[in-house]
Amino acid sequence: MSDLQTPHAGDDKSKDDDVVALLMRQHGDIRNLFDEVEATEGEERRDAFRRLVRLLAVHETAEEEVVHPFARRALSGGEKVVEDRLAEERAAKETLASLDDMDTDDPKFMLQLLKLRKDVQEHARAEERYEFTHIRRSTDAANLAAMAKAVKAAEAMAPTRPHPGVESGAKNMALGPVAALMDRTKDAVRKAMGND
Ligand SMILES: [Fe+2]
Ligand SMILES: [Fe+2]
Repeated sequence: MSDLQTPHAGDDKSKDDDVVALLMRQHGDIRNLFDEVEATEGEERRDAFRRLVRLLAVHETAEEEVVHPFARRALSGGEKVVEDRLAEERAAKETLASLDDMDTDDPKFMLQLLKLRKDVQEHARAEERYEFTHIRRSTDAANLAAMAKAVKAAEAMAPTRPHPGVESGAKNMALGPVAALMDRTKDAVRKAMGND
């Protein structure tokens, strides 16, 4: 991996034994990847965008499988907090679907990317404010560590290539439908976590 590429939470020496700290680090990684997509072009941009979609898929799946279910049970008003977050995630996913089959150098791509960035950023902020800070007050260090472990497992299980087994040709390969890439990543993580 080149030094210029955005590293991910988990690549460094942080212990990540607190699920809230880990997810907030991922929010930072997502923000950095949006910056990287905006700052590059051509194959580099395609590659950065692919890594962004993968991290979004891994992150949102981990939240859906591990963190939202806990928040529903443990937070006062948790059902409503989670329903609101899921509605935001659905809106972001619709924007993501509008990028389907669009080349990353298409002039319209950047316009839609900025809309996606806004959706994702507002959603992340709402999670941090209405969900994550309250999770920390609702449980103990052991449970925060157990949930962090599950989130890291989710990341390890997600495919790194959009089409497994097509490693050679990958350089010139179009990204393909991004919503489908997101769905495949989610399926893989769900299956691996035994929740499908
Ligand atoms: Fe989320
Ligand atoms: Fe999030």
